[in-house]
Amino acid sequence: MADKKAHLTIDGINDPIELPVYSGTVGPDAVDVASLAAQGLFTYDPGFMSTASCRSKITYIDGNKGILMHGGYPIEELAAHATHLEVCYLLLNGELPNKQQKEAFFEEINANRNVDSSIGNLIATFDKQAHPMAILCSAVAAMAALYHKNMDIDDPKQRHQAAVNLIAKMPTLAAMCYRHSKGKAYIPPDTRLQYAENFLYMMSGEKVSETLSRALGRVFLLHADHEQNASTSTVRLSGSSGTNPYAAIAAGIATLWGPSHGGANEAVLKMLMQIGDESRIDEFVKRAKDKNDSFRLMGFGHRVYKNFDPRSREIKKCCDDVFAELGLEADPLLKVAKGLEKIALEDTYFIEKKLYPNVDFYSGILLKALGIPVEMFTVIFATGRTPGWIAHWHEMLSEPYKIGRPRQLYTGYTKRSFIPLEKR
Ligand code: SDX
Repeated sequence: MADKKAHLTIDGINDPIELPVYSGTVGPDAVDVASLAAQGLFTYDPGFMSTASCRSKITYIDGNKGILMHGGYPIEELAAHATHLEVCYLLLNGELPNKQQKEAFFEEINANRNVDSSIGNLIATFDKQAHPMAILCSAVAAMAALYHKNMDIDDPKQRHQAAVNLIAKMPTLAAMCYRHSKGKAYIPPDTRLQYAENFLYMMSGEKVSETLSRALGRVFLLHADHEQNASTSTVRLSGSSGTNPYAAIAAGIATLWGPSHGGANEAVLKMLMQIGDESRIDEFVKRAKDKNDSFRLMGFGHRVYKNFDPRSREIKKCCDDVFAELGLEADPLLKVAKGLEKIALEDTYFIEKKLYPNVDFYSGILLKALGIPVEMFTVIFATGRTPGWIAHWHEMLSEPYKIGRPRQLYTGYTKRSFIPLEKR
């Protein structure tokens, strides 16, 4: 129900157009413009800079204050006190689990970690040099073939099962992509291990220290959801057609892969390796500021955060723990990263454009220290983001929804007659 009204006056249209204005529990009000189409008008917002695409209870972000909350819980508190699976439960159910719910959810995930052999066979058909994001995208799309025949997306129980399947199987699929790329046999999940610990075990066959597995668990947790980002919006738009949820998640994976989005962590590492030494930082900062140079400082800037990304602060803490344990404080890439961050935070260009380190800036360095190959970084991001994607899909289908169908500002030819070939 609208509690305020907006009045739109347009030259040439006599009467102002009255539009409902909705208030959320927190954050900007939203002007409901749905009625404009009936009056022959569209809003114009490329990149959806000022568009609220839906109502949601899952995550709240205040980009100016550097606030990120899931279900009202600040990310800093969740990162300090919650497990990744507790946050997955929170995203799906809106509440943190009690002891019994937490144990039951862990058992549910544990019971669904294995992947059908047909998916393993599919992964094995890829060239070993294939980018693991391409393989992961295909493998999740192939899961749609496995779980489609009796899929009733209007049944909350089946939606829950799809969510459990995807959260449980994504680390197994990710590790299978990696093992295939190294020409090694898949390592089945060890149901005694926690989520992140089990992923690292399926990657290497070895158990890792609590510090290292906890750091990866924080990476998964800190990437779990982020409101209506590009890949989550893709999952919602794709899901709004009523498609198979695994197909919708595959679309989210495809969107996340881009270097402007989740592919940035891989791009950050490649940038740091390209810079190579602190003495070359100025050269690259200069390029990033040059309008005629397409080079950008990967890991800096954000559509929403115009102050700081609270996740990058938490990941930086994980870096400190892992680098201390592994004795990597003198790591040249870490030195370049810290030098780059210092310069960027003092440079007027970055200050004026509000370009601060985002979640991807330090996650790449941390993942490299954990021994994860650069091309696997976005696969880790996808694994972390899966609960957010499927929670938004589930939330959308839990209420009445319409297929997403944006319009456009047409700038092409007006009507003209066909020109026969001999006259063209
Ligand atoms: C993620 O949406 C989410 O929530 C995403 C995410 C999530 O959890 O899902 O947080 C994950 O995607 C984080 C962002 C990772 N991407 C990168 O680190 C890539 C580098 N950053 C940029 O590509 C850029 O900052 C974006 C894509 C992140 C944001 O782009 P916007 O909001 O569309 O801003 P813009 O491209 O219009 O840039 C505004 C200005 C421009 O200069 P002017 O045209 O105004 O002169 O800032 C400049 C840009 O040239 N700019 C940069 C820059 N980012 C923006 N200049 C140098 N280096 C950069 N990184």
